Amino acid sequence: MEHLPSHIGIIMDGNGRWAKKRGMPRSFGHSAGAKKFDEIIDFAGNFGIKVVTVYAFSTENWNRPKEEVDALMVLLNDYLENGLKKLAGKDTRVKIIGDMASLPESIRKGIENIEEKTKDGKSMLVQIALNYGGRLEIVSAAKKAAEMVKEGKIDSSDIDEALLSSLMYNPEAGDPDLIIRPSGEYRLSNFLLWGSAYSEFWFSDILWPDFTGDDLIKAIYDYQKRNRRFGGV
Ligand code: FPP
Repeated sequence: MEHLPSHIGIIMDGNGRWAKKRGMPRSFGHSAGAKKFDEIIDFAGNFGIKVVTVYAFSTENWNRPKEEVDALMVLLNDYLENGLKKLAGKDTRVKIIGDMASLPESIRKGIENIEEKTKDGKSMLVQIALNYGGRLEIVSAAKKAAEMVKEGKIDSSDIDEALLSSLMYNPEAGDPDLIIRPSGEYRLSNFLLWGSAYSEFWFSDILWPDFTGDDLIKAIYDYQKRNRRFGGV
C-alpha cells in the first residue's frame, strides 16, 4: 500500500464498442459506463486514492449524433441529482471541471448543487471532466493571466508555470500521477494536457464497462514499479 498514486485520471473509453458487441445502441454502453464509474469510484476511495478525475464529456463530444449527446446529458443529470445518495456517508467532494458556460441550465444548477453539498468532503475528491478540453483549460488560464496583467495585478514577466498551474480549473486537485485509458486506444484525446506533463500512463484493451477493481489494482501495481524521474536521473 506504499507509494499509491494520489491522483488518478481515467478516460472511460470503449462504451460504444461494448454496446455494439451486444447488438445494442451506444447509449446502452454509456449507461453501463456510468454504473462502472460508480463502482470504480467506490473501489478507489476504499483503496485510499485521494483524487480521481474521469473524462465524461469532451468539448469535441458535441459532434456526436444528437441522440447520443442527449443520452449522455441524461446520465450526467441523473448523477448530479442522485450522486449525493450514492456518496452518502462517504465524505467525498465532487467537483466538475470544464467549460460550464455553454452547458444546459439544468446541468449547471445540478453542478452548483452537488458541489455545494459536498464542498466539505475531505476523504476523496471526485472530479468529473464535463465539456472539458485540455487545450481550452490552458487557453482559459492564459486569458485569466492576461486579465491580471491588464488590471495591473501582475507584470507579464510574472507569468510562469506556477502561476498558470494556479489558474487551471481546479489547482487543488494537483497533477494526475497516473492516467488510465482502457479500450485499446493509446492517446490522451485532449484530457488533462497541462497536468499530465509527468504522469505515468496505463493502457489496456479492456472496454470501460468491463473494467474491474482488479484492473485498477493492476494499474496501480504497475505504477508502483515505475521509476519517476521528473526529468532528473
Ligand atoms: C467514450 O467511449 C466515452 C464517452 C465519450 C462518455 C463517457 C461517459 C460515461 C461513462 C457516462 C458518464 C457518467 C457519469 C455519471 C460520470 P466511446 O463512446 O468513445 O466508446 P467507443 O470508442 O467504443 O465508441
